[in-house]
Amino acid sequence: MKSKLFTPGPTKVPGAVLNAVGQQVLHHRSPEFSEKVRHVQDELGRLLQTHNDTLLFTCSGTGMMEAAVANLLSKGEKAVCVNGGLFGARWADICRVYGVEVVDVVLEWGKSIGPEELAKVLDEHPDAKVVFVIHSETSTGSLNDIRALAKVVEGHDAVMAVDATSSVGVHEIRMDEWAIDLIVAGTQKALMTPPGLAFVALNGRAWSLVSGSDLPKFYFDFTKTWKRLQKKGQTPFTTAVSLVYGLEVALAMMETEGWDNVYARHQRMGDAVRAAVITLGFDVLPEVPVNGLTVAVCPEGLDGNRVVRVLDDEFGVRIAGGQDRLSGKVFRIGHMGAIRERDLSMVIAALERALHEMGHPVKAGAGLSALQQVLLGTM
Ligand SMILES: Cc1ncc(COP(=O)(O)O)c(C=O)c1O
Repeated sequence: MKSKLFTPGPTKVPGAVLNAVGQQVLHHRSPEFSEKVRHVQDELGRLLQTHNDTLLFTCSGTGMMEAAVANLLSKGEKAVCVNGGLFGARWADICRVYGVEVVDVVLEWGKSIGPEELAKVLDEHPDAKVVFVIHSETSTGSLNDIRALAKVVEGHDAVMAVDATSSVGVHEIRMDEWAIDLIVAGTQKALMTPPGLAFVALNGRAWSLVSGSDLPKFYFDFTKTWKRLQKKGQTPFTTAVSLVYGLEVALAMMETEGWDNVYARHQRMGDAVRAAVITLGFDVLPEVPVNGLTVAVCPEGLDGNRVVRVLDDEFGVRIAGGQDRLSGKVFRIGHMGAIRERDLSMVIAALERALHEMGHPVKAGAGLSALQQVLLGTM
């Protein structure tokens, strides 16, 4: 039997999306498919609250991060990378591979960057062309206030590039109003689609950097991709056609639920799971937590990776362990996308039992009670 996914990506895929993915393939140069691509692009624009075009690519989120670096910058130019976890560090690693000079703003894991801190870095590096930030740092569960950060960047001569892979569909993003210049994201998390698709949206400020960029790119050339999409509603190369069907259905589901309701649901689920794990005696790692996942810190003597294994093996519930330096020290519960409030009691009940089985003291039902109280609005 397959385990139920409570992971921070990939996530559970709804039946309607799976059905769409399983349809016969349309040819990627056919007018019917172009119509689908244009429709999905429009929906992604609504999701990001932007009039900028969105470009679809067949790759995972990291491909899109690499594409952003390769398209925005030239060799030897300077970029500020906000590095508060595994994915923030990835921005810096990609920049270095491309010969970009990195101002690595290393944060303690679990901390978010404040606007004053970013302003100070930009004052010290007025020649920085791009600021790369992660909206929802999935390795630590920390949220960066991209609205406040974008305001700082707008006041300097730089472009703000945000990775929103684990925040789109969880936290509202108003790309145009907040003056965010570029957003990249994969669709395998809150957008409820099987892995393999990613997208980028750019505004005029970002496009002006693209036109001056001399870094090598072929598959990930934004200009080539934009021209083909504009002219024909096609991507330059073979698209993951079936995933586009799935993404179209997933976005329609979210639109039917209503974007505000989607964000409010994630807020409630975040509050409820945090309350449950805190009641069970765990600290929540991030100072400012995201709503798509909960990162619980294990006390001395409790191995987070074992918690993950016991939950999976004994209770059919798949959560995620800590990454990199947090391996064994935390466990991460994903509650985004197709996860509903009613699903949460399963993961918390299983967690209580797994902890008990591992000899970790738990008061039976304490976590569940905290969860329910938040969901009922009595806590
Ligand atoms: C914040 C963030 N950025 C980027 C990625 C992209 O990773 P991948 O290339 O594995 O999709 C992820 C996936 O976990 C992520 O959480």
